[in-house]
Amino acid sequence: MKELDSFYVRTAWKIMDALHQAQQTADGLADCLNVLCEAFSCEQGSVWVLSRNREYVQAIAQRGQTNLNGLRLAVGMGVTGQTAATGDSLLTDLAAWGKQFSVEEREAGFPEGGLLWVPIKTPGSILGCIQLGGRDSGVFSEEDLRICERCGAIIALDLEDRGVDALPDADQRVIASLKKAVKDYAVGDGILHVLKEVSLDVYENEFLVILGESGSGKSTLLNVLGCMTPLTSGRLELDGRDFSAPSENELTDYRRNAVGVIFQAYNLMPNLTAWENVQIISEISGDGMDPGEALKMVGLYDRADHLPSALSGGQQQRVAIARAIAKKPRMILADEPTAALDYETGKEVLTVLQDVVKRCGTTLVVVTHNSEIAKIADRVIWVKDGKISGIRINPAPKQASELVW
Ligand SMILES: Nc1ncnc2c1ncn2[C@@H]1O[C@H](COP(=O)(O)OP(=O)(O)OP(=O)(O)O)[C@@H](O)[C@H]1O
Ligand SMILES: [Mg+2]
Repeated sequence: MKELDSFYVRTAWKIMDALHQAQQTADGLADCLNVLCEAFSCEQGSVWVLSRNREYVQAIAQRGQTNLNGLRLAVGMGVTGQTAATGDSLLTDLAAWGKQFSVEEREAGFPEGGLLWVPIKTPGSILGCIQLGGRDSGVFSEEDLRICERCGAIIALDLEDRGVDALPDADQRVIASLKKAVKDYAVGDGILHVLKEVSLDVYENEFLVILGESGSGKSTLLNVLGCMTPLTSGRLELDGRDFSAPSENELTDYRRNAVGVIFQAYNLMPNLTAWENVQIISEISGDGMDPGEALKMVGLYDRADHLPSALSGGQQQRVAIARAIAKKPRMILADEPTAALDYETGKEVLTVLQDVVKRCGTTLVVVTHNSEIAKIADRVIWVKDGKISGIRINPAPKQASELVW
């Protein structure tokens, strides 16, 4: 019992420390989840917070290979929704409780073996819940449950102090949705599995950053979202329409009007001026923006008649932003847009990008190696080995001009 007490004290201390260190609510919750996963040797876990209207509970942080991205469950629905409704803990295993799961929970793919849910609650109210699974030893004990409950209570007190402001709007519209998206490439005699059943919703007007190591599948994910590469299996929906196997016409129409893309290497036409580079895109799309207007937005109107070779890297990337925005797309996809630029220029380009998409109400998805850039996102997604390994909502995204790297 003595040993157990010291385990609890150490874990509780780490939880308090994580909460104390975190400036933002969502960061604190994600860090607490890491503390608990490490303390109990769990490869999987999630933290859920109740919405202000108390109608649904949303995954605010996750660890491991479950697909809980953007998942909201009505209070009372499934095991998670039940915990959030009743405030009761649950110690179970997948085999025994699988049938109590909601369809969404089942699809999220909780790991085999022991699973645990504890509420985040004060004596007065329920604020959310914590879920752990994928434990080395397979099962949790009643003692584990009680320790987690107490940690949940510590988190609840902190959350109540801060106020639960970490949730995005309840009625965000989904623009692009991947369901169990698989992308394989034939390589030599074998098959390379690049995306492994990735499920992801991209919302209207959000700024999403995708982080991950080299070769993890970030660019492939972006290309799939932009209909630049077809899926091997799974489903892609764009604005609610099935694009898993689009016709040529649908594809052309989508690429021409709905998405703007920005690459690390700018990809401007070398023999066309800045104006002309933007103009050909705005003319191809039916209802494009005036090239002058687009160039003004990125602060390059006075360079409109320059060829790319007469522009700096940062200026060329700003022309690429003007070109992407000129078709008034629903979504801009940017793959390492600042990787070729020095620090100051990279920040400048991000500032323009952040400003332009906010003004135009466009969704922005940026793939990057640079975790500092994640601080300006509304939502961050980590890709690891072809799967989404984590998600975090930034309650208070920074301005690009505030970044330091
Ligand atoms: N057309 C292709 N044919 C075969 N393999 C490919 C193809 N495109 C990508 N891959 C492989 O898929 C894996 C993921 O590639 P991807 O470009 O998505 O990674 P990434 O996360 O963007 O990496 P980086 O950060 O280096 O850009 C890599 O192993 C890559 O070699
Ligand atoms: Mg890449």
